[in-house]
Amino acid sequence: MYFGVDYYPEHWPEERWEVDAQLMQAANFNVVRVAEFAWAKLEPSQGRFDFDWLDRAIEVLNKYGLKVIIGTPTATPPKWLIDKHPDILPRDADGHVRGFGSRCHYCATNEAYQWHTDIIVGELARHYGQHPGVIGWQTDNEFGCHSTVRCYCDSCQRAFRRWLQRKYGTLDALNKTWGTIFWSQTYTDWDQVIIPRKTVAEHNPGLLLDYYRFASDMKVQYQKRQIEILRRHTTNQFITHNLMGLFPEIDYYKLGADLDFVSWDNYPRLLGSPERARLAMTHDLMRGIKKEHFWVMEEQSGPSGWGIVQSTPRPGEIRLWTYQAVSRGADGIVYFRWRTCRFGTEQYWHGVINHDGLPRRRYEEVQRTGSELTKLAPLLEGTVVKNEVAILYSYDQLWALDIQPNNPRLNYAEVIKEYYRCFHECNIGVDFINHDDDFSQYKVLVAPLLYMVYPDLAARLAGFVQRGGVLLTTFRSGVKDWDNVVTDKPLPGELADLLGIEIGDYDSFYGDRVGIRLELDGEVSEGSADTWCDIITSRGAKSLGTYTSEYYTSEAAVTENIVGEGRAIYVGTRLDANLTARVVDYALAKAGVTKGLLAHSGIEVAIREKDAMRLVFLLNHTDQRKTAALPGRYISLLSDTVVSGEVELEPYGVEVLRED
Ligand code: GLA
Ligand code: ZN
Repeated sequence: MYFGVDYYPEHWPEERWEVDAQLMQAANFNVVRVAEFAWAKLEPSQGRFDFDWLDRAIEVLNKYGLKVIIGTPTATPPKWLIDKHPDILPRDADGHVRGFGSRCHYCATNEAYQWHTDIIVGELARHYGQHPGVIGWQTDNEFGCHSTVRCYCDSCQRAFRRWLQRKYGTLDALNKTWGTIFWSQTYTDWDQVIIPRKTVAEHNPGLLLDYYRFASDMKVQYQKRQIEILRRHTTNQFITHNLMGLFPEIDYYKLGADLDFVSWDNYPRLLGSPERARLAMTHDLMRGIKKEHFWVMEEQSGPSGWGIVQSTPRPGEIRLWTYQAVSRGADGIVYFRWRTCRFGTEQYWHGVINHDGLPRRRYEEVQRTGSELTKLAPLLEGTVVKNEVAILYSYDQLWALDIQPNNPRLNYAEVIKEYYRCFHECNIGVDFINHDDDFSQYKVLVAPLLYMVYPDLAARLAGFVQRGGVLLTTFRSGVKDWDNVVTDKPLPGELADLLGIEIGDYDSFYGDRVGIRLELDGEVSEGSADTWCDIITSRGAKSLGTYTSEYYTSEAAVTENIVGEGRAIYVGTRLDANLTARVVDYALAKAGVTKGLLAHSGIEVAIREKDAMRLVFLLNHTDQRKTAALPGRYISLLSDTVVSGEVELEPYGVEVLRED
């Protein structure tokens, strides 16, 4: 278990480093991330490298038992480099340059930038690749932050054409797939092909989807060249990157594939009040990226803020967020940042300690958490998170629906979250998987908005159901092929046989709510829906629910098809929260998945296990005391006492139990 902090020695007088390191050690830290924005200090002018200061900082940190992770500094190309190659600067969709003066001001396809990247990464890797006090590397910082995935410069235009040539082979194939006959967009030479800069009206959806995929690939490739260099010069040092959770513009499955493990940056109080289901879902998605444990490389440790200061973590919240991460598979927690900076854009992005450098309540909370985790670490070693339910989360679907949301209320991640929340409230763990992952180990597969389907995906979903799985999918599924072209089959296209339905008519819903009546195993629930209404004709499926208003009153809205040993459930509309939960409960019951410990209690429960040992984390995300009746006998690993019957959690309180 690693536990530490992000530190910027270059922001502080060297005399202070030792004091900082002592305080870090006293906080039970054992790891520190450094240098990810320090290019100007590491290479003050072209080819002149100064690593002495970093050597000294690492020496001080190591002296106090703190191992080091080095971030490659490529998110902040220095001024001399930009002045030498102004084309490094990215361009927005208007073609305007996004200038020097903040960060992430580079285009990943720019050859000069790639050349300079290779140099600085290579120098760092050669210098620190065998350093016993350096345990790993972070590539760049938050790839794509500040909307920098999609660049519209000339270099990207050329790279996009090359990418398309590799994909399509012939221009004819590209023209056909995109349907460029529409609006006379036919290309007769590769050099004519555009990137989607600002136009009079909307771009071709085939082009847009390819461009989104291309732009994501360019970040993946850019990271790959850094990783290749790092691997060449390092031994026994891991390589990770700090992802941004639900950030939608990079296919994190692809970005993660080249890493040893993924990390992510978690700022729960950034978006107003923290939403526990959203946080849990993000941790689960991060674990799903590589089907492996992950780190939190930046865990919020104070009020966030650049120009505006966000609310302060409540006493207990930093500890709570730490345990939530650990409970869902984090094996490293690194707080952002150590001491709040006195200058620069992030003057108000508070760290563990304030500008004045004095340890106070947030420091003490972190320190306490660290001492608890030190004790728990040997037990956590080798434990894993195991689940029977998976949610399919695909960047391709997300992008296609971002290009054409179909209805203004439709947002891919929001719909995913609506389903996720049902499991979360029952304390049922969920894995996130990609469209080409193996589904077979799961009992329930929830795959909302399977907007684009290719034949093999349809076949594997059918196989999953045949062999006894319960599949739940929704409206706007089977609509398109993988190139973003609408199917010529009756909807839901490739999925029609599996679902046993045909959709001949649908209504993108602009009214307030449409009435819904579900009947699940004889139990009737009334409620409503919005966003989209498929009017379903059965082709073998049975109706589980109907509309109770609009011209489609009493038409099927939710159906179920029994196929082989399993079931394929189709939800043709966006049900309200209660009805969504009813359908999920039904799917769980049919699949034989039981609800988790303390389901619906408002206490979040997550489990890490190894062989017969189960470590149960109880988390209270509220500012109210919570009690719950626990079935069975447990040992509290925090207080070394036996717990049975009533368990009490203080506001933002945490309990870690081992089944007795
Ligand atoms: C991100 C970055 C950090 C820092 C924080 C606060 O998470 O990775 O470098 O900028 O945001 O803005
Ligand atoms: Zn570019």
